[in-house]
Amino acid sequence: GAPVEVDISKLEPGQMMTVEWRGKPVWIINRTKDMLETLPKLDEAVSDPKSDKVQQPEYCKNETRSIKPELLVAVGICTHLGCSPSSKFKHGAEEGMGADWLGGFLCPCHGSTFDLAGRVFKNKPAPDNLVIPPHMYLSDTRLIIG
Ligand code: FES
Repeated sequence: GAPVEVDISKLEPGQMMTVEWRGKPVWIINRTKDMLETLPKLDEAVSDPKSDKVQQPEYCKNETRSIKPELLVAVGICTHLGCSPSSKFKHGAEEGMGADWLGGFLCPCHGSTFDLAGRVFKNKPAPDNLVIPPHMYLSDTRLIIG
């Protein structure tokens, strides 16, 4: 498939957009400082905190799993059986997610949960973190996926 070029100039902090790449949904999320601060708190709770499994390009093997700290680019497909998780950003309490939930994604099929870097929580059916596709920035407002 051809690379997909995306205009991210309208993506405000805290917002998410979805584009299609190779027939798959790719999420682009502009994480706020609050959202980013949840990540180190979850290192113990997720099963591959340092992204040791090859689920991302080498340039995204870091704490935020991204090129720019705020911008997450991830394939929105659960690594269990391929459902698409829904976003559960933390805007106060979120129904059914428990008081200690810090925000991320919930797969409706078998209940896997992922943090705001797409890292899978321990003891969930999904074995791996969400995939980070190859991507690069052409400018501050233009992203190319693939
Ligand atoms: Fe997502 Fe099974 S497909 S938890």
